Amino acid sequence: MSEPRTQFATRLGVIATTVGSAVGLGNIWRFPYEAGAHGGGAFLLLDLLFIFIIGVPVVCAEFIIGRHTGKNIRGAFRALAPGKSWGLVSYVGLTAAIMILSFYSVVAGWTMHYTVSSVTEFSGRMSTAALHDRFDSFASSDMAVVWTLVFLTANYLIISRGVQKGIEKMSNILMPILFITLLVFTINSLMMPGAIDGVTFLFKPKFSEITPAVVLSAMGQAFFSLSLGLGCLITYSSYFKKETPLVRTSFITAGLDTMVAILAGVIIFPAVFTFGQEPTAGPKLVFEVLPSIFSSISGGVIWSTLFFFLLFLASITSTISMAEITTAYFSEEFGLSRKRATALTIALAMVFGSLCAMSFGSLGHITIFGMTLFNLFDYVSSNILLPLGGLIISVFVGWVLDRSIVNSELTHSDRPASRVITRMVVFCLRWLAPVCIGIVFIFGLGIF
Ligand code: PFF
Repeated sequence: MSEPRTQFATRLGVIATTVGSAVGLGNIWRFPYEAGAHGGGAFLLLDLLFIFIIGVPVVCAEFIIGRHTGKNIRGAFRALAPGKSWGLVSYVGLTAAIMILSFYSVVAGWTMHYTVSSVTEFSGRMSTAALHDRFDSFASSDMAVVWTLVFLTANYLIISRGVQKGIEKMSNILMPILFITLLVFTINSLMMPGAIDGVTFLFKPKFSEITPAVVLSAMGQAFFSLSLGLGCLITYSSYFKKETPLVRTSFITAGLDTMVAILAGVIIFPAVFTFGQEPTAGPKLVFEVLPSIFSSISGGVIWSTLFFFLLFLASITSTISMAEITTAYFSEEFGLSRKRATALTIALAMVFGSLCAMSFGSLGHITIFGMTLFNLFDYVSSNILLPLGGLIISVFVGWVLDRSIVNSELTHSDRPASRVITRMVVFCLRWLAPVCIGIVFIFGLGIF
């Protein structure tokens, strides 16, 4: 039988788990390479816009659904709109959760490998070309699959322990370490000779680089980064206590999440410019460019180990939240024990994750719509499923859900949101979010 539903024990736990979910590879790996490839400051500006005008209200919408029902994503929609097709959005979320968990674990596996190999291999100076070859030969090898599986096993060990003893406890320990390490890196980067160029690149918008596809990517990035649109926050908030202030928690999450993305840019771009590298290197940016920098500075081994360990920490607090979506679903909807529900989730991710990992090597020749499996999983989940899920969730909470539920969830806490804020959130959910997401979809996907 499934275990009785628990709640996060403390307010700190709520913040650590929610921010832990939001802050991850999306901020430290994905944001810098997306911004690097798409006009630096212009991408940042779009990302910020999407985070605060659409992201925060949709985070509130997910919190309202999750906390009010206290159920997994499928159960929540069944409780709120019985017999209606709104519940179909759960399947969008569950699919996105497995897809993201799969490709994300590949990159998280790379971070584990690079943490270990920083100590054993990167002791001397290595050229960028050598690091490029090294990355390619590792990513295309069986070892990349093995690290993906190791990473997913670590997730199993945490999640199967339960919400409080596993997820909350780990997040409470890991998040402070993550923030301190980030600050150390930021200070170090700002003292580099190329600091001004790097910071200018990050903050100075090059509007000429903005195309509809870039706007879609920025929206996808905002959703991905906030863990939004797939029911992750519905699931987590189903463990919130009734006193947890929802609007406040959503602003804290968005604020800290944005801060980490900016810090990651401030860490990476000064280093990139100091060492004459290209900010447009794409997904390999942190795996090729940074090691070449680490290998040429004193204490590089320590910096490198610390940096990849930081990425690993950020990854695991995010993947446990993705995996919790389907774990809660399997356990509550099918009556599986927590251990079995976790095992099923992780097994699915192991199968698809291995395929994604192999798409850098033996399965590299398989492309769908011109994308490898890894890129396809990323593109479909981030740029299509998450905004689609967000669109449906915002329309549902803005137009369908009983207004008294919305108001009481937003205001019922020991720190209630003011009437103005509550109204703004509802306005964004009814109008701004659906219209913006709709327009970006139509143009970004090239439907027009
Ligand atoms: N927000 C995470 C990041 O930025 O790395 C990624 C993520 C976590 C996406 C949880 C989706 C999710 F359900």
